[in-house]
Amino acid sequence: MITVLEHPLVRRDITILRNVETDPATFRAAAARVGIHLAIAATQTLELENFTITTPLEETQGFKTANPLILMPILRAGVAMLAPFSEVIPQAAIGYLGLRRNEETLQPEEYMFSFPPTEKPATVFLLDPMLATGGSMCASIRRVRREGVKNIIIACMIAAPEGIERVRSEFPDIPIITAALDRELNEIGFILPGLGDAGDRFHG
Ligand code: PRP
Repeated sequence: MITVLEHPLVRRDITILRNVETDPATFRAAAARVGIHLAIAATQTLELENFTITTPLEETQGFKTANPLILMPILRAGVAMLAPFSEVIPQAAIGYLGLRRNEETLQPEEYMFSFPPTEKPATVFLLDPMLATGGSMCASIRRVRREGVKNIIIACMIAAPEGIERVRSEFPDIPIITAALDRELNEIGFILPGLGDAGDRFHG
């Protein structure tokens, strides 16, 4: 259930994100390009529905996504992934989950939750560039599940083995798509080699 992107352009763009010399505008542009790759990979197994359309020549079978789709960036850093995901999945509704990781306890604290109503069961894409201890992601999954959501897909740019392991042990069925799998966490819960604080770097 773990997918690590290996596309050469993703590796080039992750390098730009990691580089401490990268300014916020260049960081945003590279994040958007990585986000496009992630959105394509994260939607690889979406269910489709058939319907009939007419080309200029004849009738044929067309396809549309079968279930409502919701993009849920985890604020703030998840905003970096919203534009590319909504470009690839324009029909998706958008919700927001505001979580702040308490830098002393490393525990996530919720400060905002906005969830779009849907008639049919939705697939929710949880977007967060960083999966460090996994505490924020597990809290996000629990929060979204309280809305009755069963289908969740996680997309992140950089993941630590510790975060992957935590999500996988609590939620073994939820797929994780990441653009890079890093070495480890340091003693204050930052990913190594990582890219620093994605929210700070994206927002300048
Ligand atoms: C960062 C990051 C994740 C979380 C990862 O956010 O964007 O949400 O920490 O850490 P975890 O896996 O150990 O929970 P932060 O709390 O710094 O907020 P921000 O997005 O507002 O910068």
